[in-house]
This record gives sequence, structure tokens and C-alpha cells, in this order.
Amino acid sequence: MTVPVPSRPVVLLTRRLPDPWIESLREQCDLRVGSAGPGIDAALREGLPQAHGILSLLTEPIDAELLDAAPNLRVVSNMAVGVDNVDLKACTKRFIPVGHTPGVLTEATADLTMTLMLAAARRLPQATADAKEGRWTTWTPDGWLGRDLWCATLGIVGLGQIGTAVARRARAFGMQIVYTNRSPLLDAAAQLGARSLPFDALLEVADIVSIHAPLTPATRLLFDDDAFDLMKDDAILVNTARGPIVDTDALTRALSHGQIGAAALDVVDPEPLPAEHPLYAMPNAIVAPHIGSATAGTRQQMAQLAIENLLAGLEGRRLPHCANQRDLDRHTTRLPGA
Ligand code: GLV
Repeated sequence: MTVPVPSRPVVLLTRRLPDPWIESLREQCDLRVGSAGPGIDAALREGLPQAHGILSLLTEPIDAELLDAAPNLRVVSNMAVGVDNVDLKACTKRFIPVGHTPGVLTEATADLTMTLMLAAARRLPQATADAKEGRWTTWTPDGWLGRDLWCATLGIVGLGQIGTAVARRARAFGMQIVYTNRSPLLDAAAQLGARSLPFDALLEVADIVSIHAPLTPATRLLFDDDAFDLMKDDAILVNTARGPIVDTDALTRALSHGQIGAAALDVVDPEPLPAEHPLYAMPNAIVAPHIGSATAGTRQQMAQLAIENLLAGLEGRRLPHCANQRDLDRHTTRLPGA
């Protein structure tokens, strides 16, 4: 079914983005931009009945209620690889493709994972704070002792693109890799000498556990009290995937009771983590404000890809990266006369 392309489609951009990133969108669309966010502000909501496209960020929930207010919507394009903020089923039901941005942020996110892993292993935040605050009085043979990464076992939960990029880096650091995944990238696993293990067994053997799975009903709160019970008492947990995969209260308990050694988190639940949260005061916890893809080059490429997805959807073409393509195809073939 071909639908005429509006000459100047109405596009809602849920949060402000730097002007140079969205120039091409401004040229081609009637672009209405939300405030600094997070959330979809009231003025933008008023544009929902006319909207042909929505370009969303991961902070904006795109749910059935919002979709119902946007009867002309042809595409949702999320400027993120994760799409847990978008109700994919509700979009599919309305034949709305959902774009996302895999690939372009893989290396930046893998770099940040290594940054967190190294910082936690070498206790960098404590060491630099001590230096800055006058507690560095001499070179100490047993001061600020961390742990070696070389020969350590890295357990990767989710060996997709980002997990594989982390594994590549970890191999260069001399680490052994074990992984668990629903459908692993088998060639990559073989090239990396990575060994597949069931989740519980991985937790038992890994010195460092790094999470790279998407947030789904199956992974929500995967790291609970039982998971921390299985981990080594000096293990480091790194999370650059999604906060709700880890039960924050259980993690706080595990860190304060010495069930695990340290945690280095780029994502937490909730986000932002309130300033008074006990995790910030723990010497064995590092919390970063969700900056996995935050390099100028990567974020610009994400915006570019999100725009390409959006324009394809507005024109009724298949999106270069569509998170619900398979379900859309199935849904379409079930239509009478399809
Ligand atoms: C970042 O977290 C993303 O999903 O792109």
C-alpha cells in the first residue's frame, strides 16, 4: 500500500539536539522541538494529532496512549540502540515502524565499559580523590592496591555487538572470556576463544561481570540477591546496558555486605540516581551518568542514523534499522487480502 508523502511532514523531536545535527531535518520537515526535557512537554503534545513522525530520545516513553493521540503517525525513530522506552507491540499493532541506532555506538560504549572496568579494578576514584584531598603523603607499598585484569576471567552477559567489542578489548588485556547469550555471535565467540556458560555458572567463575543485554521482561532484575550470592566476593560488576537489569537495592546490599567487591555503573535504576543515594558514598561503587555513547562523533552519528530512519519511515520505505521489522512483516501478512 503506498501512501502519499506529505510535502512538509510534521515531525516532533522530543528534546532539543544541537542545531548542526538536525539541519537536514529542519530543511525537509516542519520540525517541532520539545524543551530540554526529560519527558514530552505539553506544547509538543499539542502537535501529536498532526505528527507524521516522532524522533525520540531514550528518556521519553512512547506508549499506547501517546500513539492514540497521533493518528497520522508513520514512524517513531529512537535515537538510541535500546528501545525499552518504546512500546513496540503498540507500534506494531498500528503498523508504525520503530527505528533505532545499532552499530554506530558500539565502539564508544565498549570503550566506556573498559574505562569503568579499569577504574574499578585499580580503585581510581579513591586514589585520585586521596591525591586531590591531601591524603597522598608518600609512596606506599601497600596503598591503593587494586587487582590485575590480565588473566582475570571476564563474564559477558549478552554477546551481541557491544559485548563482542568489549570481548575484543578484554582479549588484548589478556583476559579470559566466558559469556552467556540467547543467540550468540558464534563466529565472534570462536575468534575470541570465548566459552559459553549458563548464567549461574558464569556468575560463579567470573572475576568481572559485564552486562550487555537489552532490557526485556527476561532480563529485568536479572541481577538480584540470588545472583549476587553466586558471584565471587571480590567480583566487579560493570553495567553499561540498562539500569533495571540490576536490582539497585540488592546491589547496594551486596556491596555493603561484601558479597561482591565493586560495581561500576553507567546505567542505574532509577535514572538519574538521586544525589543522596547510598551508592554514591560507597568507596567500592562508581556511578556515571549514562555516558556510554557520549562522544561528539558517536552522538552525531546516532542523530544522523535516527534521521535516516525517520525519513525512510515518512516516505513509506523500510527503515535502515528497524527494531520491530519482523513483527511488522508478520502483522502485515496476517491482514485480510495480504
Ligand atoms: C544508550 O543507552 C542507547 O541505548 O543508545
